[in-house]
Amino acid sequence: MKKLILTTLAVAALFSACTAPAKKLIVAQDTTFPPMEFINDAKEQVGFDVDLMKAVAKEAKLDLEFKSVSWDGIFAGLANSTYDIVASSVTITEDRQKEMDFSTPYVNAGQVLVVLADNAKDMTLADFAGRNVGAQVNTTGSMEVDKNKAITLKAYDDIALSFDDLINNRVEAVVIDAPVAAQYVKNPKFAGKIKIVGDPMTSEFYGLVVKKGNKELLDKINAALATLSTNGTLDALKAQWLK
Ligand code: ARG
Repeated sequence: MKKLILTTLAVAALFSACTAPAKKLIVAQDTTFPPMEFINDAKEQVGFDVDLMKAVAKEAKLDLEFKSVSWDGIFAGLANSTYDIVASSVTITEDRQKEMDFSTPYVNAGQVLVVLADNAKDMTLADFAGRNVGAQVNTTGSMEVDKNKAITLKAYDDIALSFDDLINNRVEAVVIDAPVAAQYVKNPKFAGKIKIVGDPMTSEFYGLVVKKGNKELLDKINAALATLSTNGTLDALKAQWLK
């Protein structure tokens, strides 16, 4: 009898192990985007989007693993299921909505112009006609620069390098998401040397991204975001990371 029970238990354990594997969802981020997603001094992947995803995971009972990937190709990895979610300050655009599915918006982040500190404070992007302006490749920032054909776009895989080039006079301005610009301007390496001029040129919203058609996951994410928005968690994250 005892043996039979043990066997039954063993079979049951084996069965549950096979049928209900704890499937980790992989979250991809390009971690060159402080304070949204970056690698801190302790070499940990941190930021607003990391905390947001952890809060979503808690609500939706998801098991997550974070991965740092390069921005160029980040959506291809979602399309071929290398990972399940992109949480990387991705602006919701009509074109992207054809290729992938977005959650409800969670942060408003327009494009701003960053220039050397000694530039006039009323400069606009149009003033850089005939000059080099930096932006991250295939972002809404580079699209904004590209609209002005008289400007030479210098597209970077890693946006940090565009700020190095700015202070070394290899580009004359950088166009980038407002929260990230605010962070680079405060970074000890650039503080006092660069500044943001004017108001955001665009109004844009970030969404979490899943593979086109992954409704099951998207529904869970949206339900969790709704809860985090009404219970104050989203506002607390903004207060913590976006100052
Ligand atoms: N919001 C911009 C876009 O969606 C830039 C996002 C870049 N994100 C990043 N983690 N590097 O095009």
